[in-house]
Amino acid sequence: MRLLSLEVQNYRNIASASLTPGRELTVICGNNGQGKTNLLEAIWLLTGGKSFRGGKDAELVRRGEPFAVLEASTLSAQHPEELLLEEPEEERRIRMTIGTPDSSRPGRNASVNGAPPKRASALAGSFPAVVFDPGHLSLVKGAPEGRRKFLDAALCQLYPGYLTVYRRYIRALQQKNALLRRSAAGPERPYAEKAALLEVLNAELAVQGEAIQQRRRAYLERLGPLACSNYAELSHGAERMELHYAAQFEPGGLAHLLRARQSEELRAGQSLCGPHREDIELLLDGQPAKVFASQGQQRSVVLSLKMAEAAAAAAITGEHPVLLLDDVLSELDDGRKQYLLTRMREKQTFVTSCDDTAFLKTDGEVYRMNGGVLTKA
Ligand SMILES: Nc1ncnc2c1ncn2[C@@H]1O[C@H](COP(=O)(O)OP(=O)(O)OP(=O)(O)O)[C@@H](O)[C@H]1O
Ligand SMILES: [Mg+2]
Repeated sequence: MRLLSLEVQNYRNIASASLTPGRELTVICGNNGQGKTNLLEAIWLLTGGKSFRGGKDAELVRRGEPFAVLEASTLSAQHPEELLLEEPEEERRIRMTIGTPDSSRPGRNASVNGAPPKRASALAGSFPAVVFDPGHLSLVKGAPEGRRKFLDAALCQLYPGYLTVYRRYIRALQQKNALLRRSAAGPERPYAEKAALLEVLNAELAVQGEAIQQRRRAYLERLGPLACSNYAELSHGAERMELHYAAQFEPGGLAHLLRARQSEELRAGQSLCGPHREDIELLLDGQPAKVFASQGQQRSVVLSLKMAEAAAAAAITGEHPVLLLDDVLSELDDGRKQYLLTRMREKQTFVTSCDDTAFLKTDGEVYRMNGGVLTKA
């Protein structure tokens, strides 16, 4: 995947900007608060996903303006078996509006090659990208929910059917939790009726939950070795990273687990087991990274995971995602910086930095962001 050009209008603090990225590395330098992350976020929105910073649509539009426009040309590689065709690459023009240029369709809308606009989420899969944002450091230190989200978001991008399974699971889980809460509060339904409903919900949870775990395990079997070898290279072998899926049940064992813990769940008034309680265990030299990793080591773990996410997506879909790396070099020692700079030259990568010295010797495109104004350095 490659971004050929991007024009931005009225996006956050950027009134108007135009970017012609390099084939490989594009660097966006500038002081704090100038709009570097905003530009990266604008590129990310082309994936059809929501802001990685959790920004609501209204916050993305420049204050005082009615709407924002993003226009991009992208080049997607065809699948390997199609490479023999005359046109091995396909150019697409994506136009996205945020806000209400047409009051009948608020929110984010996008059109491809001039077709009638659809919801931006319909772009999913047409512009794959992987983003590293300092907020992702919580992948190491934060609660299991963030690690499950990391897995589930990647799986949703890769397998459209995963979202359906996931939604079915969450719907049944919500119903079950409501039922368990009511039972803990007092016996308002006859016991037999409640038990029958619980059985139906557990049967649904077992089917969808097994499917979720199976996908996650299969994905981690691919991602794990890639992430660990990235880590070994990034740290020049200084520490060894390991990654395991912290499962609550063996494949095929969820129905049994749900039965075994039923009375405990009834007492607790909430569901206690299933893939929504599972986690990824991250170890550095055999110790939990959550507790023992230093700042730079946490950053290295997250970067190794993110680069592995991109490589896994490339292996599965035949298309290497664009890498968006926000403020990636800080806290890393020279060896790790040097390694990342080499990796950044392999695939199209966008990096932001307050300090351009590390990039001066690279042959990438260097831009400067100052008060929302983008200029070529
Ligand atoms: N909707 C908006 N309209 C106008 N300005 C906005 C809007 N949203 C954010 N901003 C401004 O954008 C600026 C922040 O930009 P950004 O986060 O891209 O900075 P940065 O260059 O990445 O800085 P740092 O190096 O600190 O990460 C802030 O000054 C903020 O007030
Ligand atoms: Mg920033």
